[in-house]
Amino acid sequence: MERTAAVILAAGQGTRMKSELPKVMHTLAGRPLIYFPVRAALDAGCAEVIVVVGHGREHVSSYLAKTFGDRVRTAVQESQRGTGDAAKSGLDAVDATRDNCDAALVFYGDAPLLAAADLSQVARAFQEDARCTLALATCEVADPHGYGRILRDERGDIVEIREHRDLRTDAERAVREINPGIFIAKLDFWHTALAELRPNNAQGELYLTDVVSFARGSNQLVRTAPSRDEVLLGVNDRQQLIEAEIAIHERIARDLRRSGVTVRAGARIDEGVRIGHDTVIETGVVLRGNTVIGARATIDVGCVLTNVVVDDGAVLKPYSVLADSHVGPRAQVGPFSHVRPDSDIGEEAHVGNFVETKKTRLGRGAKANHLAYLGDGVVGAAANIGAGTIFCNYDGYRKHTTVIGEGAFIGSDSQIVAPVTIGDGAYVATGTTVTRDVPSDALAISRVRQENKEGYAVRLRARLKPVKKDPDGSKT
Ligand code: UD1
Ligand code: CA
Repeated sequence: MERTAAVILAAGQGTRMKSELPKVMHTLAGRPLIYFPVRAALDAGCAEVIVVVGHGREHVSSYLAKTFGDRVRTAVQESQRGTGDAAKSGLDAVDATRDNCDAALVFYGDAPLLAAADLSQVARAFQEDARCTLALATCEVADPHGYGRILRDERGDIVEIREHRDLRTDAERAVREINPGIFIAKLDFWHTALAELRPNNAQGELYLTDVVSFARGSNQLVRTAPSRDEVLLGVNDRQQLIEAEIAIHERIARDLRRSGVTVRAGARIDEGVRIGHDTVIETGVVLRGNTVIGARATIDVGCVLTNVVVDDGAVLKPYSVLADSHVGPRAQVGPFSHVRPDSDIGEEAHVGNFVETKKTRLGRGAKANHLAYLGDGVVGAAANIGAGTIFCNYDGYRKHTTVIGEGAFIGSDSQIVAPVTIGDGAYVATGTTVTRDVPSDALAISRVRQENKEGYAVRLRARLKPVKKDPDGSKT
Protein backbone atom coordinates (compact mmCIF):
# COMPACT_ATOMS: atom_id res chain seq x y z
CA MET A 1 0.00 0.00 0.00
CA GLU A 2 2.94 2.35 -0.64
CA ARG A 3 0.77 4.78 -2.59
CA THR A 4 -2.34 4.60 -0.43
CA ALA A 5 -3.21 6.92 2.44
CA ALA A 6 -5.50 5.89 5.30
CA VAL A 7 -8.13 8.34 6.55
CA ILE A 8 -9.70 7.26 9.84
CA LEU A 9 -12.86 9.02 10.99
CA ALA A 10 -12.88 9.72 14.71
CA ALA A 11 -14.35 13.19 15.21
CA GLY A 12 -17.79 12.15 16.41
CA GLN A 13 -18.91 12.77 19.94
CA GLY A 14 -20.19 9.25 20.51
CA THR A 15 -23.45 10.42 22.06
CA ARG A 16 -24.53 6.87 22.76
CA MET A 17 -21.57 6.34 25.12
CA LYS A 18 -23.13 8.95 27.44
CA SER A 19 -19.68 10.11 28.44
CA GLU A 20 -17.47 13.15 28.88
CA LEU A 21 -14.64 11.21 27.28
CA PRO A 22 -14.52 11.18 23.46
CA LYS A 23 -15.75 7.80 22.27
CA VAL A 24 -12.48 6.73 20.68
CA MET A 25 -10.61 7.30 23.98
CA HIS A 26 -12.65 4.68 25.84
CA THR A 27 -10.35 1.73 26.47
CA LEU A 28 -10.66 -1.91 25.65
CA ALA A 29 -8.02 -4.54 26.31
CA GLY A 30 -5.92 -1.74 27.81
CA ARG A 31 -5.84 0.61 24.82
CA PRO A 32 -8.08 3.43 23.65
CA LEU A 33 -10.46 2.39 20.87
CA ILE A 34 -8.61 4.54 18.32
CA TYR A 35 -5.40 2.53 18.83
CA PHE A 36 -6.80 -0.48 16.99
CA PRO A 37 -7.80 1.02 13.62
CA VAL A 38 -4.58 3.08 13.59
CA ARG A 39 -2.55 -0.06 14.26
CA ALA A 40 -4.37 -1.81 11.41
CA ALA A 41 -3.54 1.03 9.00
CA LEU A 42 0.13 1.01 10.02
CA ASP A 43 0.33 -2.78 9.78
CA ALA A 44 -1.23 -2.65 6.33
CA GLY A 45 1.68 -0.41 5.29
CA CYS A 46 -0.34 2.68 4.36
CA ALA A 47 1.91 5.50 3.12
CA GLU A 48 0.24 8.00 5.36
CA VAL A 49 -2.22 7.68 8.25
CA ILE A 50 -4.54 10.58 9.03
CA VAL A 51 -7.01 10.52 11.89
CA VAL A 52 -9.89 12.97 11.66
CA VAL A 53 -10.49 14.46 15.10
CA GLY A 54 -13.10 16.87 16.41
CA HIS A 55 -14.89 16.15 19.64
CA GLY A 56 -12.28 16.11 22.44
CA ARG A 57 -9.57 16.57 19.86
CA GLU A 58 -6.79 17.71 22.26
CA HIS A 59 -7.16 14.48 24.14
CA VAL A 60 -7.22 12.27 21.04
CA SER A 61 -4.37 14.13 19.30
CA SER A 62 -2.09 14.04 22.32
CA TYR A 63 -2.67 10.31 22.75
CA LEU A 64 -1.89 9.68 19.09
CA ALA A 65 1.26 11.80 19.18
CA LYS A 66 2.49 10.09 22.34
CA THR A 67 1.80 6.61 21.01
CA PHE A 68 2.59 6.80 17.31
CA GLY A 69 4.79 9.90 16.98
CA ASP A 70 5.02 11.26 13.45
CA ARG A 71 3.73 8.05 11.86
CA VAL A 72 0.21 9.39 12.35
CA ARG A 73 -1.18 12.86 11.61
CA THR A 74 -4.46 14.43 12.60
CA ALA A 75 -6.89 16.56 10.63
CA VAL A 76 -9.59 18.59 12.31
CA GLN A 77 -13.28 18.42 11.42
CA GLU A 78 -14.55 21.66 12.91
CA SER A 79 -18.19 20.67 13.35
CA GLN A 80 -19.53 17.16 13.16
CA ARG A 81 -21.67 17.35 10.06
CA GLY A 82 -21.46 13.67 9.18
CA THR A 83 -19.05 10.98 8.03
CA GLY A 84 -18.85 12.45 4.50
CA ASP A 85 -17.78 15.80 5.86
CA ALA A 86 -15.25 14.09 8.14
CA ALA A 87 -13.78 12.20 5.18
CA LYS A 88 -13.43 15.50 3.33
CA SER A 89 -11.46 17.03 6.22
CA GLY A 90 -9.15 14.01 6.24
CA LEU A 91 -8.64 13.87 2.49
CA ASP A 92 -7.85 17.59 2.36
CA ALA A 93 -4.91 16.82 4.62
CA VAL A 94 -3.50 14.03 2.43
CA ASP A 95 -0.21 15.21 1.09
CA ALA A 96 -0.29 13.64 -2.36
CA THR A 97 3.08 14.97 -3.42
CA ARG A 98 5.03 14.26 -0.27
CA ASP A 99 3.98 10.66 0.04
CA ASN A 100 3.33 10.07 -3.61
CA CYS A 101 -0.19 8.89 -2.75
CA ASP A 102 -2.80 8.45 -5.45
CA ALA A 103 -5.48 6.57 -3.49
CA ALA A 104 -6.97 6.62 -0.02
CA LEU A 105 -8.68 4.12 2.24
CA VAL A 106 -11.38 5.71 4.36
CA PHE A 107 -12.75 3.86 7.37
CA TYR A 108 -14.37 4.39 10.76
CA GLY A 109 -12.36 4.88 13.93
CA ASP A 110 -14.87 3.07 16.12
CA ALA A 111 -14.14 -0.40 14.71
CA PRO A 112 -11.58 -2.02 17.02
CA LEU A 113 -11.66 -5.48 15.47
CA LEU A 114 -10.65 -4.29 12.07
CA ALA A 115 -7.26 -5.75 11.06
CA ALA A 116 -4.66 -4.99 8.41
CA ALA A 117 -5.85 -7.97 6.37
CA ASP A 118 -9.36 -6.51 6.17
CA LEU A 119 -7.96 -3.31 4.67
CA SER A 120 -5.72 -5.19 2.24
CA GLN A 121 -8.64 -7.28 1.05
CA VAL A 122 -10.64 -4.23 0.01
CA ALA A 123 -7.54 -2.65 -1.53
CA ARG A 124 -6.99 -5.82 -3.57
CA ALA A 125 -10.56 -5.76 -4.91
CA PHE A 126 -9.89 -2.18 -5.95
CA GLN A 127 -6.55 -2.84 -7.65
CA GLU A 128 -7.59 -6.05 -9.43
CA ASP A 129 -9.74 -4.21 -11.95
CA ALA A 130 -8.24 -1.10 -13.52
CA ARG A 131 -11.71 0.23 -14.33
CA CYS A 132 -12.75 0.18 -10.67
CA THR A 133 -13.42 3.65 -9.24
CA LEU A 134 -14.54 2.72 -5.75
CA ALA A 135 -14.37 -0.46 -3.71
CA LEU A 136 -15.89 -1.19 -0.34
CA ALA A 137 -16.34 -3.99 2.16
CA THR A 138 -19.73 -5.53 2.78
CA CYS A 139 -20.88 -8.03 5.30
CA GLU A 140 -23.91 -10.32 5.90
CA VAL A 141 -25.31 -10.20 9.40
CA ALA A 142 -28.21 -11.86 11.22
CA ASP A 143 -29.41 -8.59 12.72
CA PRO A 144 -28.81 -5.59 10.44
CA HIS A 145 -30.52 -3.12 12.77
CA GLY A 146 -28.76 0.25 12.85
CA TYR A 147 -26.39 -0.39 9.94
CA GLY A 148 -26.37 1.09 6.47
CA ARG A 149 -27.90 -1.48 4.06
CA ILE A 150 -26.29 -2.46 0.76
CA LEU A 151 -28.93 -2.09 -1.95
CA ARG A 152 -28.28 -3.95 -5.24
CA ASP A 153 -29.97 -3.96 -8.64
CA GLU A 154 -31.44 -6.99 -10.39
CA ARG A 155 -28.00 -7.89 -11.78
CA GLY A 156 -26.60 -7.91 -8.27
CA ASP A 157 -24.52 -4.77 -8.70
CA ILE A 158 -24.40 -2.36 -5.78
CA VAL A 159 -26.53 0.74 -6.31
CA GLU A 160 -26.38 2.56 -3.01
CA ILE A 161 -25.99 2.34 0.75
CA ARG A 162 -29.07 3.45 2.61
CA GLU A 163 -28.81 4.31 6.28
CA HIS A 164 -31.10 2.52 8.71
CA ARG A 165 -33.09 5.64 9.48
CA ASP A 166 -33.62 6.36 5.80
CA LEU A 167 -35.04 2.92 4.87
CA ARG A 168 -38.42 3.12 3.23
CA THR A 169 -39.79 -0.39 2.75
CA ASP A 170 -39.88 -3.66 4.66
CA ALA A 171 -37.97 -5.23 1.78
CA GLU A 172 -35.15 -2.72 2.38
CA ARG A 173 -35.29 -3.33 6.12
CA ALA A 174 -34.97 -7.08 5.49
CA VAL A 175 -31.66 -6.66 3.66
CA ARG A 176 -28.98 -8.33 5.74
CA GLU A 177 -26.00 -7.17 3.74
CA ILE A 178 -24.59 -4.12 5.48
CA ASN A 179 -21.82 -1.56 5.35
CA PRO A 180 -19.04 -2.33 7.86
CA GLY A 181 -17.21 0.80 6.69
CA ILE A 182 -14.05 0.29 4.61
CA PHE A 183 -13.83 2.30 1.37
CA ILE A 184 -11.03 2.87 -1.12
CA ALA A 185 -10.83 5.14 -4.16
CA LYS A 186 -8.40 7.33 -6.07
CA LEU A 187 -7.87 10.79 -4.56
CA ASP A 188 -9.51 12.49 -7.60
CA PHE A 189 -12.67 10.49 -7.12
CA TRP A 190 -12.80 11.29 -3.42
CA HIS A 191 -12.49 15.01 -4.01
CA THR A 192 -15.18 15.05 -6.72
CA ALA A 193 -17.61 12.71 -4.97
CA LEU A 194 -17.36 14.31 -1.53
CA ALA A 195 -17.98 17.76 -3.01
CA GLU A 196 -21.31 16.44 -4.36
CA LEU A 197 -22.70 15.25 -1.01
CA ARG A 198 -25.98 16.79 0.15
CA PRO A 199 -27.61 16.42 3.58
CA ASN A 200 -30.87 15.04 2.14
CA ASN A 201 -31.46 12.41 4.78
CA ALA A 202 -33.12 11.69 8.09
CA GLN A 203 -30.16 13.03 10.10
CA GLY A 204 -29.49 16.08 7.92
CA GLU A 205 -25.84 15.02 7.66
CA LEU A 206 -23.31 14.55 4.90
CA TYR A 207 -23.05 10.79 4.53
CA LEU A 208 -19.84 9.18 3.37
CA THR A 209 -21.97 6.28 2.18
CA ASP A 210 -23.57 8.48 -0.51
CA VAL A 211 -20.39 8.26 -2.60
CA VAL A 212 -21.72 4.89 -3.79
CA SER A 213 -24.83 6.31 -5.47
CA PHE A 214 -22.71 9.16 -6.83
CA ALA A 215 -20.32 6.69 -8.49
CA ARG A 216 -23.16 4.61 -9.89
CA GLY A 217 -25.02 7.70 -11.11
CA SER A 218 -21.95 8.70 -13.10
CA ASN A 219 -21.55 5.17 -14.51
CA GLN A 220 -18.39 4.29 -12.67
CA LEU A 221 -17.51 0.78 -11.57
CA VAL A 222 -18.03 0.04 -7.86
CA ARG A 223 -16.77 -3.28 -6.50
CA THR A 224 -17.57 -4.90 -3.17
CA ALA A 225 -15.40 -7.25 -1.14
CA PRO A 226 -16.93 -9.55 1.50
CA SER A 227 -15.41 -8.99 4.93
CA ARG A 228 -15.29 -10.95 8.18
CA ASP A 229 -18.31 -10.23 10.39
CA GLU A 230 -15.95 -9.17 13.19
CA VAL A 231 -15.00 -6.05 11.26
CA LEU A 232 -18.39 -4.53 11.58
CA LEU A 233 -18.45 -4.56 15.35
CA GLY A 234 -18.52 -0.77 15.50
CA VAL A 235 -18.60 0.53 19.04
CA ASN A 236 -21.45 2.96 19.60
CA ASP A 237 -22.32 2.25 23.24
CA ARG A 238 -20.73 0.63 26.27
CA GLN A 239 -22.37 -2.73 25.67
CA GLN A 240 -20.70 -2.89 22.25
CA LEU A 241 -17.43 -1.70 23.82
CA ILE A 242 -17.38 -4.75 26.09
CA GLU A 243 -18.49 -7.12 23.33
CA ALA A 244 -15.55 -5.91 21.26
CA GLU A 245 -13.23 -6.20 24.26
CA ILE A 246 -14.25 -9.80 24.86
CA ALA A 247 -13.49 -10.56 21.21
CA ILE A 248 -10.05 -8.91 21.45
CA HIS A 249 -9.14 -10.74 24.65
CA GLU A 250 -10.22 -13.99 23.03
CA ARG A 251 -8.07 -13.25 19.97
CA ILE A 252 -5.03 -12.45 22.15
CA ALA A 253 -5.46 -15.66 24.17
CA ARG A 254 -5.87 -17.73 20.99
CA ASP A 255 -2.71 -16.27 19.42
CA LEU A 256 -0.71 -16.92 22.60
CA ARG A 257 -1.97 -20.51 22.85
CA ARG A 258 -0.89 -21.08 19.28
CA SER A 259 2.57 -19.78 20.14
CA GLY A 260 2.99 -22.26 23.01
CA VAL A 261 1.59 -20.47 26.06
CA THR A 262 -1.06 -22.16 28.23
CA VAL A 263 -3.68 -19.49 28.80
CA ARG A 264 -6.52 -20.78 30.99
CA ALA A 265 -10.06 -19.59 30.48
CA GLY A 266 -10.78 -16.43 32.40
CA ALA A 267 -7.32 -14.85 32.09
CA ARG A 268 -7.35 -11.27 30.77
CA ILE A 269 -4.31 -10.34 28.72
CA ASP A 270 -4.20 -6.85 27.27
CA GLU A 271 -3.02 -5.79 23.86
CA GLY A 272 0.77 -5.53 23.69
CA VAL A 273 1.65 -8.00 26.47
CA ARG A 274 4.32 -10.54 25.42
CA ILE A 275 4.76 -14.06 26.83
CA GLY A 276 7.33 -16.79 26.16
CA HIS A 277 6.66 -20.47 25.44
CA ASP A 278 5.68 -23.04 28.07
CA THR A 279 4.52 -20.35 30.43
CA VAL A 280 1.22 -20.99 32.19
CA ILE A 281 -1.23 -18.16 32.76
CA GLU A 282 -3.88 -19.26 35.20
CA THR A 283 -7.49 -18.24 35.44
CA GLY A 284 -8.31 -14.81 36.83
CA VAL A 285 -4.89 -13.42 35.93
CA VAL A 286 -4.86 -9.86 34.58
CA LEU A 287 -1.83 -8.78 32.53
CA ARG A 288 -1.72 -5.11 31.61
CA GLY A 289 0.40 -2.45 29.98
CA ASN A 290 3.89 -3.30 28.78
CA THR A 291 4.11 -6.54 30.68
CA VAL A 292 6.64 -9.02 29.31
CA ILE A 293 6.86 -12.58 30.63
CA GLY A 294 9.59 -15.04 29.74
CA ALA A 295 9.48 -18.77 29.06
CA ARG A 296 8.52 -21.55 31.52
CA ALA A 297 7.09 -19.10 34.03
CA THR A 298 3.93 -19.62 36.06
CA ILE A 299 1.51 -16.84 36.77
CA ASP A 300 -0.91 -18.44 39.15
CA VAL A 301 -4.57 -17.71 39.83
CA GLY A 302 -5.64 -14.13 40.36
CA CYS A 303 -2.31 -12.31 39.89
CA VAL A 304 -2.53 -8.75 38.54
CA LEU A 305 0.56 -7.43 36.70
CA THR A 306 0.88 -3.92 35.29
CA ASN A 307 4.06 -3.09 33.33
CA VAL A 308 6.05 -5.93 34.86
CA VAL A 309 8.96 -7.84 33.36
CA VAL A 310 9.06 -11.45 34.54
CA ASP A 311 12.07 -13.55 33.57
CA ASP A 312 12.22 -17.22 32.57
CA GLY A 313 11.09 -19.81 35.08
CA ALA A 314 9.77 -17.35 37.67
CA VAL A 315 6.75 -18.42 39.71
CA LEU A 316 4.11 -15.94 40.79
CA LYS A 317 1.85 -17.66 43.30
CA PRO A 318 -1.84 -16.80 43.61
CA TYR A 319 -3.22 -13.34 44.19
CA SER A 320 -0.03 -11.35 43.93
CA VAL A 321 -0.23 -7.77 42.69
CA LEU A 322 2.81 -6.30 40.90
CA ALA A 323 3.38 -3.00 39.11
CA ASP A 324 6.28 -1.35 37.23
CA SER A 325 8.78 -3.89 38.48
CA HIS A 326 11.11 -6.69 37.46
CA VAL A 327 11.08 -10.31 38.63
CA GLY A 328 14.31 -12.18 37.88
CA PRO A 329 14.82 -15.71 36.57
CA ARG A 330 13.33 -18.50 38.75
CA ALA A 331 12.34 -16.03 41.47
CA GLN A 332 9.24 -16.78 43.52
CA VAL A 333 6.61 -14.28 44.53
CA GLY A 334 3.46 -14.76 46.58
CA PRO A 335 0.92 -15.91 47.43
CA PHE A 336 -0.53 -12.50 48.37
CA SER A 337 2.56 -10.38 47.73
CA HIS A 338 2.40 -6.71 46.80
CA VAL A 339 5.30 -5.69 44.58
CA ARG A 340 5.06 -1.94 44.05
CA PRO A 341 6.85 0.28 41.50
CA ASP A 342 10.61 0.04 40.99
CA SER A 343 11.03 -3.24 42.77
CA ASP A 344 13.60 -5.65 41.38
CA ILE A 345 13.26 -9.19 42.68
CA GLY A 346 16.56 -10.88 41.85
CA GLU A 347 17.34 -14.26 40.38
CA GLU A 348 15.93 -17.07 42.57
CA ALA A 349 14.93 -14.57 45.25
CA HIS A 350 11.75 -15.21 47.25
CA VAL A 351 9.07 -12.77 48.28
CA GLY A 352 6.36 -14.48 50.28
CA ASN A 353 2.90 -13.89 51.64
CA PHE A 354 1.97 -10.44 52.92
CA VAL A 355 5.27 -8.95 51.90
CA GLU A 356 5.16 -5.49 50.35
CA THR A 357 8.11 -4.15 48.39
CA LYS A 358 8.57 -0.68 46.92
CA LYS A 359 11.64 0.65 45.13
CA THR A 360 13.63 -2.20 46.59
CA ARG A 361 16.17 -4.49 44.97
CA LEU A 362 16.59 -8.02 46.24
CA GLY A 363 19.86 -9.69 45.24
CA ARG A 364 20.20 -13.22 43.97
CA GLY A 365 18.62 -15.78 46.30
CA ALA A 366 17.60 -13.20 48.92
CA LYS A 367 14.46 -14.13 50.85
CA ALA A 368 11.67 -12.25 52.55
CA ASN A 369 9.14 -14.98 53.04
CA HIS A 370 6.51 -13.56 55.36
CA LEU A 371 4.86 -10.33 56.49
CA ALA A 372 7.36 -7.55 55.77
CA TYR A 373 7.52 -4.01 54.38
CA LEU A 374 10.61 -3.41 52.27
CA GLY A 375 10.58 0.18 51.00
CA ASP A 376 13.57 1.99 49.44
CA GLY A 377 15.95 -0.86 50.09
CA VAL A 378 18.90 -2.67 48.61
CA VAL A 379 19.13 -6.24 49.88
CA GLY A 380 22.29 -8.23 49.13
CA ALA A 381 22.40 -11.70 47.65
CA ALA A 382 21.29 -14.56 49.91
CA ALA A 383 20.26 -12.22 52.73
CA ASN A 384 17.34 -13.42 54.82
CA ILE A 385 14.65 -11.02 56.01
CA GLY A 386 12.61 -12.44 58.89
CA ALA A 387 8.85 -12.23 59.35
CA GLY A 388 7.54 -8.89 60.45
CA THR A 389 10.59 -6.86 59.39
CA ILE A 390 9.89 -3.23 58.54
CA PHE A 391 12.16 -0.90 56.60
CA CYS A 392 11.19 2.39 58.28
CA ASN A 393 11.89 4.48 55.19
CA TYR A 394 9.83 7.62 55.82
CA ASP A 395 10.32 10.32 58.44
CA GLY A 396 7.27 12.28 57.42
CA TYR A 397 9.25 14.42 54.96
CA ARG A 398 11.71 12.28 53.03
CA LYS A 399 12.32 8.69 52.04
CA HIS A 400 15.59 7.07 53.16
CA THR A 401 17.42 3.99 52.00
CA THR A 402 18.11 0.76 53.83
CA VAL A 403 21.13 -1.23 52.64
CA ILE A 404 21.51 -4.84 53.71
CA GLY A 405 24.69 -6.72 52.88
CA GLU A 406 25.13 -10.11 51.28
CA GLY A 407 24.20 -13.06 53.45
CA ALA A 408 22.95 -10.83 56.28
CA PHE A 409 20.28 -12.25 58.58
CA ILE A 410 17.52 -10.00 59.84
CA GLY A 411 15.65 -11.58 62.74
CA SER A 412 11.87 -11.45 62.88
CA ASP A 413 10.02 -8.34 63.95
CA SER A 414 12.96 -5.98 63.44
CA GLN A 415 12.59 -2.34 62.53
CA ILE A 416 15.34 -0.96 60.33
CA VAL A 417 15.27 2.82 60.68
CA ALA A 418 16.70 4.28 57.45
CA PRO A 419 19.09 5.64 56.40
CA VAL A 420 21.12 2.73 57.63
CA THR A 421 23.53 0.11 56.33
CA ILE A 422 23.84 -3.43 57.63
CA GLY A 423 27.07 -5.09 56.56
CA ASP A 424 27.67 -8.39 54.79
CA GLY A 425 27.06 -11.42 56.96
CA ALA A 426 25.77 -9.31 59.88
CA TYR A 427 23.12 -10.64 62.20
CA VAL A 428 20.22 -8.62 63.57
CA ALA A 429 18.61 -10.27 66.56
CA THR A 430 14.87 -10.76 66.63
CA GLY A 431 12.95 -7.71 67.75
CA THR A 432 15.81 -5.26 67.25
CA THR A 433 15.30 -1.64 66.32
CA VAL A 434 18.29 -0.81 64.12
CA THR A 435 19.11 2.90 64.14
CA ARG A 436 22.87 2.82 63.52
CA ASP A 437 24.94 1.06 60.87
CA VAL A 438 25.87 -2.54 61.65
CA PRO A 439 29.40 -3.62 60.61
CA SER A 440 29.91 -6.77 58.57
CA ASP A 441 29.68 -10.00 60.57
CA ALA A 442 28.53 -8.11 63.71
CA LEU A 443 25.44 -8.90 65.77
CA ALA A 444 23.02 -6.06 66.46
CA ILE A 445 20.65 -6.53 69.36
CA SER A 446 18.58 -3.83 71.03
CA ARG A 447 15.98 -5.69 73.02
CA VAL A 448 15.56 -5.61 76.78
CA ARG A 449 17.01 -8.62 78.65
CA GLN A 450 14.38 -11.19 79.65
CA GLU A 451 13.51 -11.59 83.32
CA ASN A 452 11.51 -14.55 84.79
CA LYS A 453 9.57 -13.94 88.03
CA GLU A 454 8.89 -17.35 89.64
CA GLY A 455 5.26 -17.91 90.73
CA TYR A 456 4.22 -14.42 89.67
CA ALA A 457 1.45 -15.70 87.38
CA VAL A 458 -0.33 -17.42 90.26
CA ARG A 459 -0.36 -14.21 92.33
CA LEU A 460 -1.46 -12.21 89.37
CA ARG A 461 -4.41 -14.49 88.68
CA ALA A 462 -5.57 -14.26 92.30
CA ARG A 463 -5.50 -10.47 92.12
CA LEU A 464 -7.27 -10.24 88.81
CA LYS A 465 -9.75 -13.10 89.52
CA PRO A 466 -12.78 -12.34 87.43
CA VAL A 467 -16.06 -11.39 89.09
CA LYS A 468 -18.39 -14.33 88.39
CA LYS A 469 -22.07 -13.96 87.59
CA ASP A 470 -24.88 -16.08 89.16
CA PRO A 471 -27.31 -17.83 86.81
CA ASP A 472 -30.03 -15.32 87.85
CA GLY A 473 -27.78 -12.48 86.73
CA SER A 474 -26.96 -10.99 90.16
CA LYS A 475 -23.33 -10.56 91.12
CA THR A 476 -21.83 -12.75 93.83
C1 UD1 B 1 -21.85 4.32 10.10
C2 UD1 B 1 -22.30 4.23 8.63
C3 UD1 B 1 -23.16 2.99 8.44
C4 UD1 B 1 -22.37 1.76 8.86
C5 UD1 B 1 -21.84 1.90 10.30
C6 UD1 B 1 -20.89 0.77 10.58
C7 UD1 B 1 -22.51 6.49 7.66
C8 UD1 B 1 -23.42 7.59 7.33
N1 UD1 B 1 -23.05 5.43 8.27
O1 UD1 B 1 -22.99 4.51 10.93
O2 UD1 B 1 -23.52 2.88 7.07
O3 UD1 B 1 -23.18 0.60 8.71
O4 UD1 B 1 -21.14 3.13 10.47
O5 UD1 B 1 -20.48 0.77 11.93
O6 UD1 B 1 -21.35 6.58 7.36
N2 UD1 B 1 -17.63 10.65 12.55
C9 UD1 B 1 -16.89 11.79 12.33
N3 UD1 B 1 -17.53 12.97 12.06
C10 UD1 B 1 -18.88 13.06 11.97
C11 UD1 B 1 -19.64 11.87 12.21
C12 UD1 B 1 -18.98 10.69 12.48
O7 UD1 B 1 -15.65 11.77 12.39
O8 UD1 B 1 -19.38 14.16 11.70
C13 UD1 B 1 -16.91 9.39 12.88
C14 UD1 B 1 -17.27 8.87 14.24
O9 UD1 B 1 -16.37 9.38 15.21
C15 UD1 B 1 -17.16 7.37 14.10
C16 UD1 B 1 -17.41 7.12 12.61
O10 UD1 B 1 -17.28 8.38 11.97
O11 UD1 B 1 -15.88 6.88 14.44
C17 UD1 B 1 -18.78 6.53 12.35
O12 UD1 B 1 -19.77 7.41 12.86
P1 UD1 B 1 -21.06 6.85 13.61
O13 UD1 B 1 -21.88 8.03 14.02
O14 UD1 B 1 -20.67 5.88 14.63
O15 UD1 B 1 -21.81 6.13 12.40
P2 UD1 B 1 -22.89 4.96 12.48
O16 UD1 B 1 -24.19 5.54 12.83
O17 UD1 B 1 -22.37 3.86 13.30
CA1 CA C 1 -20.53 3.58 14.58
